[in-house]
Amino acid sequence: MSEQTPLMKVTIDGQFIEVPAGTTILQAARMIGKEVAPPAMCYYGKLEDTGGNCRTCMVEVSKGSDADPRPMPKLVASCRTTVMDGMVVGNKTSEKAVTAREGVVEFLLINHPLDCPVCDQAGECKLQDLGYEHGKEETRYEFKRRTFAPEDLGPNIQLHMNRCILCYRCVKTADQVTGCREHGVMHRGDHAEISTYLEKSLDNEFIGNIIDVCPVGALTDKTFRFKNRVWFLKPVDAHRDCPTCSGKTQVWFRGDEVFRVTARKNEWNEVEDWICNTCRFDKKETKDWVIEQPSMVSRDSVIRQGHYAGQVGNVTPNETFKRVMKGRDPKLLLNIHDISEVNEPEKDLSKINRPPTSQDYKD
Ligand code: SF4
Ligand code: SF4
Ligand code: FES
Repeated sequence: MSEQTPLMKVTIDGQFIEVPAGTTILQAARMIGKEVAPPAMCYYGKLEDTGGNCRTCMVEVSKGSDADPRPMPKLVASCRTTVMDGMVVGNKTSEKAVTAREGVVEFLLINHPLDCPVCDQAGECKLQDLGYEHGKEETRYEFKRRTFAPEDLGPNIQLHMNRCILCYRCVKTADQVTGCREHGVMHRGDHAEISTYLEKSLDNEFIGNIIDVCPVGALTDKTFRFKNRVWFLKPVDAHRDCPTCSGKTQVWFRGDEVFRVTARKNEWNEVEDWICNTCRFDKKETKDWVIEQPSMVSRDSVIRQGHYAGQVGNVTPNETFKRVMKGRDPKLLLNIHDISEVNEPEKDLSKINRPPTSQDYKD
């Protein structure tokens, strides 16, 4: 007869749940739902031995367990602390946890550049979300930010170390998904940086996944970098018959032009299936893909704004004619593109291997 895993009762922000022994507080909170789940900048459900680096997930344990109800003396990293039977945890309801998180965000931003207007991660950046929810309005830091030159990690990935928060997700992904350790964190303390020692190129067929796991814009896709803003793109679930990976991806369109291909992510913004470099970097034509449906986009995402009616369904343009015509149909419609090329780019912008300039547009 198989042994049953004992269930542990835990209360997080006043919400009760029973979970199997060995579940972490963060996992238990995620089982309850987004409203109580602490933010996690380094933990990644698909990876082993993950978390414990960023401290954004800290919570207050006001009761350790039924057996020993004393509170834990310090805030704990919820991604690394397993629940005990009868445990009571405060996340958003704990003033101590919220104040500590504000401090963590302040530290994460100490050396962080003000790159959002030009950063590819903007619009899907967890550090932006954290800064918005927990950040201070101004910095107290008076020293020069540390800076690094951008570094090429192989032919398709560029590292902007200035934006890295040293979460170790990419290091663990490279270790565990590609099966060979190709880069890591060099040095320690404020000298610590992600690097390929001796500029070693990262050319494993699955290495592109480090771009998807990076919570900030430190690892960028060179085939997409600076080409567009994510909120102008429409993500769709698509697949192809790929001999290397599952071929199940998210393809990001603007009009009928494919701008980027990424792995599909779940509600915690974590990759569902690792995808290969060929799918990610080389398949940039509509004909390469079998399109399934518009992707589910989370309700609070900037990408969702105005793109879809409901979470899935047809792409519905914002119909303004009837509104401005007070419900009447127009008698005549002219397509400005038939008579003017003012907005026509000379080439497909997604095919240019650099930021587009005014030269890429006709006069
Ligand atoms: S990583 Fe996020 S917070 Fe940092 S510059 Fe890019 S978008 Fe802004
Ligand atoms: S490059 Fe990105 S994924 Fe890697 S440690 Fe830095 S922030 Fe984390
Ligand atoms: S998510 Fe727990 S320490 Fe980073």
